[in-house]
Amino acid sequence: MTFRTLDDVDVKGKRVLLRVDLNVPMEEGRVTDATRIERILPTINELADKGAKVVLLSHFGRPKGQRVEEDSLRHVLPTLEHYLKRKVAFADDCVGAPAGAVIAAMKGGDVALLENTRYHKGEETNDPAFVDEVAKLGDLFVNDAFSAAHRAHATTEGIAHKLPAIAGRAMQAELEALESALANPARPVMAVVGGAKVSTKLELLGNLVTKVDYLVIGGGMANTFLAAQGKAVGKSLCEHDLAGTAREILEKAKAANCTVVLPVDATVAQKFEAHAPSHIVSVDHVGADDMILDVGPKSVAHVESLLARCKTLVWNGPFGAFESPPFDEGTNAVAQTAARLTVEGKLLSVAGGGDTVAALNQAHAGQEFSYVSTAGGAFLEWLEGKTLPGVAALKV
Ligand code: 3PG
Ligand code: MG
Repeated sequence: MTFRTLDDVDVKGKRVLLRVDLNVPMEEGRVTDATRIERILPTINELADKGAKVVLLSHFGRPKGQRVEEDSLRHVLPTLEHYLKRKVAFADDCVGAPAGAVIAAMKGGDVALLENTRYHKGEETNDPAFVDEVAKLGDLFVNDAFSAAHRAHATTEGIAHKLPAIAGRAMQAELEALESALANPARPVMAVVGGAKVSTKLELLGNLVTKVDYLVIGGGMANTFLAAQGKAVGKSLCEHDLAGTAREILEKAKAANCTVVLPVDATVAQKFEAHAPSHIVSVDHVGADDMILDVGPKSVAHVESLLARCKTLVWNGPFGAFESPPFDEGTNAVAQTAARLTVEGKLLSVAGGGDTVAALNQAHAGQEFSYVSTAGGAFLEWLEGKTLPGVAALKV
């Protein structure tokens, strides 16, 4: 796909509406993970240094068209200024007089943040009148919010049809990484898909089996596949009603020449809590009271030996209950191997979606991956092979 980047436009003196994703995790008014802020710094700095008036647009939370105080972007402002090392003006509304006044007072190189776009119903409905109100505040639209690109909202999609639309540096990096991981990858390609439930990842699995050479299934969802093959899974998390679906995915994989890799052994415990007494069993000998909480060492070794042959890895979801040690061991081991192969220049590794980033960081492996996406839902939809409206709107 082709899109314009910051190399293709002159931004000096222009009002640039820069869509970012400041929907960062917060606890008690403090930002607990600033990764999304760090990722947008290059775009903001480049635009400001080139003399643009940089106007940041973002949603926060899901206030559903109401002014919910808790969801105000004012709470994110100090952290943004801290990382940016620049003063950022704030407008109490993303349209109308408050936004107009703040922008009118800007000089080239200034940065301003407008209040939560989701305070207006028109944001999520992509209402043309709201799109026009936002669009008239700017001369150019730059999108650096891949993680919100699965939403066809006014400031992620609609506005791209009203103003010249350009990908920011973070969006550009994300699209390039995703392209080299699945659209046009060096083979063999391995996908690791973990997480609790098959039901949330059906489309994703169905798409991946047609794209990758090895599909490694971990997490609770592997139990559904084991059960579908007639194995006892004891008290493990398992969607028994999806046995037929699991078998269909295995059939589809076979037809597509994709090797599905399931656990051969597991770490089991009688209760699910950190440091619960646990032991390792073959997946053929899971006891009636056992709960599978991680993959075992043979499974890890098998995945690692396949990975050593692969050139590309796409990773979504942990192998086990990584929040509760020792059930993080499988995820840690494979993540560290992938990190090492990446550092050695043998593997292109791309990861993303929900828990994945936290799991890789906990394994001290995230830094070494070729690319770690901060996107949750958008990354999953991309793995499902869907067109993301916010990305499609940037197409030239
Ligand atoms: C996210 O946090 O995944 C994005 O900001 C999108 O948020 P949403 O799921 O509320 O649309
Ligand atoms: Mg979300």
